[in-house]
Amino acid sequence: MHASQAMNTVTVISSISDWVKLRKQFDAKKTIGFVPTMGNLHQGHQSLCEKARQENDLTIISIFVNPTQFNNRDDFTNYPKSFDKDIALANKVGINYILAPNYTDLYADNYAYKITETDLSCLMEGQHRPGHFAGVLTVVMKLFMLVRPTKAYFGEKDWQQMQLIKNMTKAFHCDLDIVSCPTIRDKNGLALSSRNSRLSEEQYQVAINFPKLLASNKTPAEIKQLLEQAGMAVDYIEEFAERRFGAVKIGQIRLIDNVEMKQCLLQF
Ligand code: PAF
Repeated sequence: MHASQAMNTVTVISSISDWVKLRKQFDAKKTIGFVPTMGNLHQGHQSLCEKARQENDLTIISIFVNPTQFNNRDDFTNYPKSFDKDIALANKVGINYILAPNYTDLYADNYAYKITETDLSCLMEGQHRPGHFAGVLTVVMKLFMLVRPTKAYFGEKDWQQMQLIKNMTKAFHCDLDIVSCPTIRDKNGLALSSRNSRLSEEQYQVAINFPKLLASNKTPAEIKQLLEQAGMAVDYIEEFAERRFGAVKIGQIRLIDNVEMKQCLLQF
């Protein structure tokens, strides 16, 4: 792909220097909605993009599978990629620009500089994926610096990530709003995630027990036991900030989800 390539309406830019030049030409009066992604876009991303488009003059997404947030090499290598489909979805939704940088450009410092948080990032996902949130916060800050959005959109499926990013923008006095958007689920209640595309039909049938049990009226210990009986390995089931959070593994595929405690009423 060339550094800057126009495809239908969306323009894909992979060179950071090209992006910086272009960004300088934007009309300062225009609002910018930004959706950072790692690609393999699905309806969850689509809903974020649609909201960003409704609320702003220009909509930009980034596609970058960020190696610094993967604590597991295989998970990074096997992360699903579907660039052509992503471009088609971006066109359908009416995205103006896709920023798709490469590692050497985006991490010219080779990750010598990082953003760390010392509280919320140590719980749940942070506890089970050492270094994960430093990678997320660092890449998101780099992208915010490049895009300089008015509003950035994140899904509640990754509630801990969204909350840490919200807190980071306050801590660093960033002049932008973080918009939190509801989790999009499939017909069986499974939260949409790029990793779902790696589930076999058999694994999918196991996975659909996860959202049901998470939203049940059982205790975390009971849920853990029932998830294990259903064929999942459980990293954690925890209650925090009026929500219940969980992470499970089905084979090599790790899924996370969370629900508000007030919705945890399902009888099992
Ligand atoms: O949620 C994601 O897809 C990623 O963590 C993000 C925010 C794009 C950073 O790489």
